[in-house]
Amino acid sequence: MKKLMINLTHTSYNIYIEKGILANLGKYIKDVYNNKRIYIITDSNVEKIYLTNVFNSLKEYEVYSYAIKAGEESKNITSYQEVINFLLTKEIRRNDLIIALGGGVVGDLAGFVAATLYRGLPFINIPTSLLSQMDSSIGGKTGIDYYNRKNIIGAFKQPDLVLIDPDTLKTLDKREFNNGMGELIKHALIGNPKLFTKLLTKPEIDEEIIYESLLVKKKYVEEDEFDKGNRMILNFGHTFGHAIELNSDYKHGECVAIGMILAIRLGIDLGITNDSLLLDLKKILDLYELPYLDIDYHKLLHSIIYDKKNLAGVINFILIKNIGNPVIYKINEEDIKSI
Ligand code: GLY
Repeated sequence: MKKLMINLTHTSYNIYIEKGILANLGKYIKDVYNNKRIYIITDSNVEKIYLTNVFNSLKEYEVYSYAIKAGEESKNITSYQEVINFLLTKEIRRNDLIIALGGGVVGDLAGFVAATLYRGLPFINIPTSLLSQMDSSIGGKTGIDYYNRKNIIGAFKQPDLVLIDPDTLKTLDKREFNNGMGELIKHALIGNPKLFTKLLTKPEIDEEIIYESLLVKKKYVEEDEFDKGNRMILNFGHTFGHAIELNSDYKHGECVAIGMILAIRLGIDLGITNDSLLLDLKKILDLYELPYLDIDYHKLLHSIIYDKKNLAGVINFILIKNIGNPVIYKINEEDIKSI
């Protein structure tokens, strides 16, 4: 078992990483929750695989569950309403616990429900995809998509506890597993050179590797809980990545992979990034069958900088000098001309 604690100004919470923890939930939950009722929000895929096991490990509680339809498109205002209606029908009270059991969609949606219903309810996150274990289950960003914009309605809602079971990775299909590897590789690149070297040996993704990766996220979340400054370093690969995600069928971690390659090419062209990094990253992306597009990034960068929402014509771009050494670089029109 590995444990880490996220320490913030007004709260702190533990993350336990343990193989088989899903069969032992009661033991951890009783440390943070004293009431009787638990409301599990999950999705139609995760429900089939894990819900019976989870109910068995919560025998001392009165447990209700609701499954949204699996898939990205469920992260919307209709599902939000559906979940709230279910909870109210089941007479949820303001001190009852909400558990998110599933991937990022479930975690973001259930977290947003827990942030807003009664202005906030106890909340535990049990992420079952590698992508959500690596990223969205930690740090308190919750929300839904709206008006064709990702996460445009949301709130910061730190969980009271995060429970990660690496055994859940066994039921992910290869593409979904590699999708999570996109974020894991990102953490290694921005904060842990040893982890990067280890990943090149294609090790089993176990408690230790998840822990090492989350230490990188912990550092930035603790430094900048509300994402006003250095936390943006966690967005390495995301500026190009998000632009690609909006216009393609690639998954999030795949877009981050493509975005990291483009950010490294940009960094090399600006004289900031060490040239050898491009080959290193391509090697690791090949290993985990993650895509990179050999596209001309200039046009994409131009459209990002001159996006109508970006009136200043300058953006903060995350670049890395070498592995473990990220920088926030302000890119402007002059830079574009120079490259
Ligand atoms: N996903 C990046 C963050 O939590 O800030």
